[in-house]
Amino acid sequence: MDSIINNDKQAKMAHHIQKNQRRSYEELLQGNRDWVQSELDQDPNYFTKLAAGQNPDVLWIGCSDSRVPANQITNTRPGQVFVHRNIANVCVHSDMNMLSVLDYAVNVLKVKHVIVAGHYGCGGITAALSNRQFGLIDNWLRHIKDVYRLHSVELDSIEDQTQKVNRLVELNVMEQVYNLCKTTIVQNAWRKREDLEIHGWVINLNTGLVKDLDVTANSGEELGEVFNLDSEENI
Ligand code: CO
Repeated sequence: MDSIINNDKQAKMAHHIQKNQRRSYEELLQGNRDWVQSELDQDPNYFTKLAAGQNPDVLWIGCSDSRVPANQITNTRPGQVFVHRNIANVCVHSDMNMLSVLDYAVNVLKVKHVIVAGHYGCGGITAALSNRQFGLIDNWLRHIKDVYRLHSVELDSIEDQTQKVNRLVELNVMEQVYNLCKTTIVQNAWRKREDLEIHGWVINLNTGLVKDLDVTANSGEELGEVFNLDSEENI
């Protein structure tokens, strides 16, 4: 008798979960239809124009966190920002995904600004500062532990854990700006044109506002000697 009641309960629960699952999925498709309609209400040709092509001025390299979407943060529209996102906005020089996006953005789209955008309270940065294992991601977070190692004296002097995380958020953005400057893609582009700038930003989720870290780079001059590469023609 008990098992019949339990089976009945389990069946009801499974049905409930399935219904919620279906609803959360259907909401996405409905959201899409609503968005399409609201754009068409304002401009019947909106999608015809959008489909014609893109000409963004900006490459955004941000965190995968669901709270930091590039377009909303900068109040821009589809077509204005080319986007690459990963956990904790890391730019690793052997990451073919990031390099392909960077190369296409710089050399084909000819973007004028590359923005590395971190955010305070970043879960990836918090995890990197801890001793816990989180699985495969630990290998990705190692890149951030490397940033910590470069700045451990400063970071170890900060007692408040939130402040320490947030300072590492800033330092991580600065290091990733530096990493981008060290790529052949950016260095070769700087030889050919003067309108490419790499910027470092941090988003404050409590206010929505961006803090410009003022680390904008527009030439390889300030890179250390070892990282400032010769021109391609000398190969
Ligand atoms: Co994050």
